[in-house]
Amino acid sequence: MRVGVFDSGLGGLTVIQAITKTFKGAQIFYIADTLFAPYGEKSEEQILKHSLDVTNHLLRNHQIDVLIVACNTATSAAIKYLREKFPSLILIGTEPGIKPAMQNTLTKKVGVLATAVTLGGNKYQELLNKLSKEHDVEIFEQACIGLVEQIENGKINHPETVSMLRDWLKPMHESSVDTIVLGCTHYPLVSEVIKDVMGANISLIETGTAIAKRLEDLSSQSGHINDGELMIKVFYTGDIKIDMINMILDTWQNGGKIVVRDTNE
Ligand code: DGL
Repeated sequence: MRVGVFDSGLGGLTVIQAITKTFKGAQIFYIADTLFAPYGEKSEEQILKHSLDVTNHLLRNHQIDVLIVACNTATSAAIKYLREKFPSLILIGTEPGIKPAMQNTLTKKVGVLATAVTLGGNKYQELLNKLSKEHDVEIFEQACIGLVEQIENGKINHPETVSMLRDWLKPMHESSVDTIVLGCTHYPLVSEVIKDVMGANISLIETGTAIAKRLEDLSSQSGHINDGELMIKVFYTGDIKIDMINMILDTWQNGGKIVVRDTNE
């Protein structure tokens, strides 16, 4: 099985990390579209174009059977179109985990951190409207403009990043938010900073595990045997901090998985 995965940069690696815990016997081709990052500060039309270009590239050059859009922003802007255009491709998108967050909260207050495109998109708004009818939960939304760049630049624990997060999280902290949705695949990379600001008891909801489960279900339905080696190739379209890739990969418990860091694609 050949699985294509893309994001604007390093964020999608947090999704692949979850996949490596349970998925076997496949080749994963990861594209960090850093030439056009951050997606969250582009128009929906631009994001759609880049998503389409990356998908065509993965189909042509790597003959993928499955595509994982490991980016909430690109999912919001492009997944509907990609599903229509590539009906035979197994497609998995990424959406903020508002549902598990609403089920988890005890204070009935949930924070959602995401890009402005994701928060303003129809997909998120429709999901929120539907879930708000089922759960009596107050939602605190925050578009984290500039956070993706900080992460891409390796400024994880940098005072600037800590200060940005302190400002964004202040209203949530003061209102006893107990659950925060990480609605961008980059944000798990700053989860320790978020925990420092919000306190160790904060629940952070990410979507990697749910995507890994969906991949297992859909691939087994199409005959995939979940056994054998998992090969991961990482490509990037523009500049990327290789030491950030190394830092992320070092945190993986990837016994037996082979990761190849490739040059520009
Ligand atoms: N990882 C992307 C997401 O999940 C980041 C978007 C961006 O590049 O701004 O939304």
